[in-house]
Amino acid sequence: MRQFIISNNDSAYRWRQFKNQSLPSVFASARVDSLTPFSNTPFYSALSEEQKNAFYKAFIQFNAEALILLELVLYEGVRSLITQRQDATLIEASRKLMQEEKDHSKAFIRFLQNDCPGFASTSYLLRHNKKFKNSFLWLARTYPVALALPAAKVEAYTVFYGKALQNAFSDNVNSWSQLNVLHLMDESLHIGYEFDMYELELSQLKGLKKVLALASTLACIFYLQICFLIGCSRMVKAVLHTTSFMETTRWTLRLGGWILREFAPYRQTRSFIKNQFQSRKPSFGNLFGFMYK
Ligand SMILES: [Fe+2]
Ligand SMILES: [Fe+2]
Repeated sequence: MRQFIISNNDSAYRWRQFKNQSLPSVFASARVDSLTPFSNTPFYSALSEEQKNAFYKAFIQFNAEALILLELVLYEGVRSLITQRQDATLIEASRKLMQEEKDHSKAFIRFLQNDCPGFASTSYLLRHNKKFKNSFLWLARTYPVALALPAAKVEAYTVFYGKALQNAFSDNVNSWSQLNVLHLMDESLHIGYEFDMYELELSQLKGLKKVLALASTLACIFYLQICFLIGCSRMVKAVLHTTSFMETTRWTLRLGGWILREFAPYRQTRSFIKNQFQSRKPSFGNLFGFMYK
């Protein structure tokens, strides 16, 4: 955590610069097939051009919304952690992480407002399910350690997603690619914080409290799965205009399956997390082996 505290100290400066930068919208460039749901599957060729474009836009917006949601939950969890602990290094590292997540959320919200006109009427995640999200926030505030491993995985995903955008738009940098490249520069360092925080927290807990910390991590993963399915089903309804429950469910599972099994940044995330588990050997890591299967 010492290393995290002293590294990457120009993050706030970069975000201030980015705020004043005027870049073209990602949607002014042509669609990138590899970043469009169902690419490289038989379903893709069956979609119309209009549907492919709509899925492309929806998936970008969904990524922005999902990141904002996770960052808000993480921010609240880490804020609660600071009030519960006295470890000066943990507190300093946590404050740094919170500041960075705050800068990220603001930039992603600005992106939704400026580049996603559909966000006002169609939100895939942020504007719905208040009770569900409040209970997720309650879990984060009560058991901040629950966020550590799932957040490390989402943060790893943001790194690989950012790299995919960097490659796709190397010749035409835009608001979305630049936002995600700046984001990955911070997030690549958050992953180490999460594993260290997990270990530090678990080492302080005994007996039932330790069991609850592990159970809360599983609960947090469950919450994220529900968020993911909610987002997928809303994207399906918005793009394919499915009307029956069965049709929506079938396409939701197909879309979820594509993201988890076919989408390159997610596949890279899985193997990265597997390597991290093998090298860092987190306590009770076997319990969470399914995170990279
Ligand atoms: Fe972030
Ligand atoms: Fe982060």
